[in-house]
Amino acid sequence: MTAAIAWEGATKRYLDAQRREVVAVDDLTLSVGYGRRLALIGTSGSGKTTSLEMVNRLVEPSAGRVLVGGVPNDALDVIALRRSLGYVVQSGALMPHLDVAANVGLLPRLEGWEPARIRKRVRELLELVHLPPDDYGHRHPAELSGGERQRVGVARALALDPPMLLMDEPFGALDPVTRISLRDEFRDLSRSLGKTIVLVTHDLEEAFALGDEVALLHDGRLCQAGSEDDFRHRPADDFVEAFVQGFVGARTVP
Ligand SMILES: Nc1ncnc2c1ncn2[C@@H]1O[C@H](COP(=O)(O)OP(=O)(O)OP(=O)(O)O)[C@@H](O)[C@H]1O
Ligand SMILES: [Mg+2]
Repeated sequence: MTAAIAWEGATKRYLDAQRREVVAVDDLTLSVGYGRRLALIGTSGSGKTTSLEMVNRLVEPSAGRVLVGGVPNDALDVIALRRSLGYVVQSGALMPHLDVAANVGLLPRLEGWEPARIRKRVRELLELVHLPPDDYGHRHPAELSGGERQRVGVARALALDPPMLLMDEPFGALDPVTRISLRDEFRDLSRSLGKTIVLVTHDLEEAFALGDEVALLHDGRLCQAGSEDDFRHRPADDFVEAFVQGFVGARTVP
């Protein structure tokens, strides 16, 4: 069966400030099925964001390719591609001068929707992420907590009802208590939405909670992809085992 998203030998090389080659992602072959949730995890600099951004073409691979819906993504119109892939970036990246309703309605407005249809969609989305529209619609991002901002970011990414969602550390900037409650809420929401989701996280528990499958990257290479059970009971090598045991801090650079 065709995968929703498939990396086929996807590689990204950069030149650093000394013009030395950095291999950000090295020959990544990995896929996620329709309606499935893949969590990408790894140490800082392991290539998670680069892998994610090769999907929506914010990054073009140096070698290999990424297929979306079975089609090489460089053969797709980039606007249509991005419309099919909601993108949640870290910290929500909301427009500070727009209120919550305008932030959530941003993409529908760019699509030329009628104002009444936008208002209805915004209400629906704010209810979906548990921000009562009458309380929150007219606030500005500065008047929100970190968790509320993340919810707005998720609502905005869902505005055009894309079949797939890319999420880069969506709960990264939150305190542990808020993080866990938002994670659990999002786990239920993501199951009911039935969308294909690729989620980047530093947190192994979050990866296991939200991913049907987890892929661990290290130094740009895929160490292992599998279920929580695979990682806990069948680690591919000593590095994976150490990572799962917590001996390699997700935020430490080895
Ligand atoms: N535009 C760029 N130019 C040069 N090097 C880059 C660029 N973007 C990323 N890199 C390098 O590629 C590697 C992978 O970066 P990437 O952002 O994908 O890591 P990450 O796993 O998302 O890390 P983090 O958890 O810190 O966000 C790093 O060594 C990074 O310095
Ligand atoms: Mg990153």
